[in-house]
Amino acid sequence: MGQIIIDGGARLQGTVTVGGAKNAALKEMVAAILVPGRHQLNNVPDIADVALMGELLSHIGCRLQREGTTLWIVSPERLNPEAPLELVRKMRASIVVLGPLLARCGEARVALPGGDDLGARPIDMHLEGLQQMGASFRLSHGVLEGEALNGLTGAEIELSFPSVGATENLMLAGVAAKGETIIVNAAREPEIVDLARHLNAMGASVTGEGTPMLHVTGTPNLSPAEHTVIPDRLEAGTYAIAGAITGGDVTVTGCSPTLLRMELSKLEDAGCQVRKGEDWLRIEGPERPQPIDFVTLPYPGFHTDLHPQMVALLTVASGTSIVTENLYDSRFRYVGELARMGADISIESQHAVIRGKPELSGCPVLAPDIRAGAALVLAGLRAEGTTVVGDVHHIDRGYNGLVDKLRAMGAAIARSD
Ligand code: EPU
Repeated sequence: MGQIIIDGGARLQGTVTVGGAKNAALKEMVAAILVPGRHQLNNVPDIADVALMGELLSHIGCRLQREGTTLWIVSPERLNPEAPLELVRKMRASIVVLGPLLARCGEARVALPGGDDLGARPIDMHLEGLQQMGASFRLSHGVLEGEALNGLTGAEIELSFPSVGATENLMLAGVAAKGETIIVNAAREPEIVDLARHLNAMGASVTGEGTPMLHVTGTPNLSPAEHTVIPDRLEAGTYAIAGAITGGDVTVTGCSPTLLRMELSKLEDAGCQVRKGEDWLRIEGPERPQPIDFVTLPYPGFHTDLHPQMVALLTVASGTSIVTENLYDSRFRYVGELARMGADISIESQHAVIRGKPELSGCPVLAPDIRAGAALVLAGLRAEGTTVVGDVHHIDRGYNGLVDKLRAMGAAIARSD
């Protein structure tokens, strides 16, 4: 399934450019379901999850064409309102087609996504919100069958947790529903703000994006639009930590440092020197990082998807760090792989205690998910000897050209498929 082979010890030096944000692009692709015509997205990353979302949209009836980082999606008059299990299983984000399919077609059949490597990951808030908007659901042989024969109607929906996916599903449904939808305790992630901008460019009225109270007014007059996806803050953060863990000097361009405020400030606490401009950041890593504590939280808190990379950094800190994971119940699965490299980490429910060691030692490890896979590559950059990271298809879901980009900055890294 592909391996990344790293000879550790090189100090990274140079510049790396990040692509468009996976977690914005995927939902902005889904927006094409809402209205027939030719939609254009710019700065779309060339990663496996985008290809999977393309397959799902093709199954629904759309035609896709890609040139460089521009993606055109032609949405037809009549859709096949269905998301099959083989695609939903590979990518849980497929669930965001549910709301817009119900709004546009009055029906949808979406295979129920099970749990995944990060935990149980229920979708109760998506379903309860859509039910408040007039949809009804029944589960038949593992497939969720939704119906809203008279269309969806706006409602005031209070989320018990600011779920990114539930907020997006309800926004996508709300722009094509009748009347106003208010989402209370909405997620505030920058990718949601970007989706709101895209929907507004399509003629929707979404206000309050980036705050916990979103107002979405439905309209029958949506039209296709052109939109440029925001930069990927998780890719940018991953390269920043790559600079930090190798004691290197890395400049990340094409990014938005303001979207990484908490993470960069924690890197400073760990002894890194961080400089930044509007669309670049430069990080110089210390010989050995200082220990730090952090807690993952919804935006603007420390992003859970940079947690494993940061833990990789802290395995070589000059003291003990404590990391608390609040988003996922099984995010720590990768810790066993880091332990094989010599890391000293103990887990107590959602807390990890990381006792920093002077060095890691390279060995074969397996990537359990996208971000933990990236963390193992970063650990390999620092480790003495050779690290072989297997199951790299997980990494391909969210990173384009990780190996080439790290090699261009001096890493001794190669890929074998
Ligand atoms: N949750 C529920 N019920 C729901 C919805 C969510 O209990 O109805 C729980 C989840 O189980 C989880 C927590 O709430 O424990 C957060 O889930 P959320 O819905 O916010 O996350 P998501 O939409 O499933 C997106 C990203 C993730 C990222 C999270 C948090 C996409 C495609 N995925 O997932 O990204 O970790 O938000 O920021 O946008 C990644 O890129 O590697 C990745 C996993």
